[in-house]
Amino acid sequence: MRGVGAILRPAARGARVSTPARWFPRTPARSVVALKTPIKVELVAGKTYRWCVCGRSKKQPFCDGSHFFQRTGLSPLKFKAQETRMVALCTCKATQRPPYCDGTHRSERVQKAEVGSPL
Ligand code: FES
Repeated sequence: MRGVGAILRPAARGARVSTPARWFPRTPARSVVALKTPIKVELVAGKTYRWCVCGRSKKQPFCDGSHFFQRTGLSPLKFKAQETRMVALCTCKATQRPPYCDGTHRSERVQKAEVGSPL
C-alpha cells in the first residue's frame, strides 16, 4: 500500500509535472497590432486604467486579461489619469510614448502589417 506522499508527488510515479516555466514563459511574446488607428477616449482624473500592451485584448485600448490567458508573458500598462480630458490611445502598439498615440501608426511599417500579427 502506498502512502499519501505518492498521491501528492505525481513525479514520483512518472507523471508529467507542470512547472511555472511552462505556464509563464521567460521570453515574453511580441505585441501584435490590434488596430491601425488610435482610439479616442475620455480619461477621468484620478481613475486608474490598464492599457493593453500585448494587442490581444478585445476591449481595445484597455486590457481584458488576454495577455494572461494566452500566456504572453506581457503585462498591461497601468496608469492614473492626472486630469479629465479626451486623449488618443495607441492601438498599433508601436508608439514611443505609451499609452498615447504618437502618430507611429501612419508609418509604412505599421500600415503594411496585418492586424493581429507582430511588427
Ligand atoms: S495608434 Fe499606435 S501610434 Fe497611433
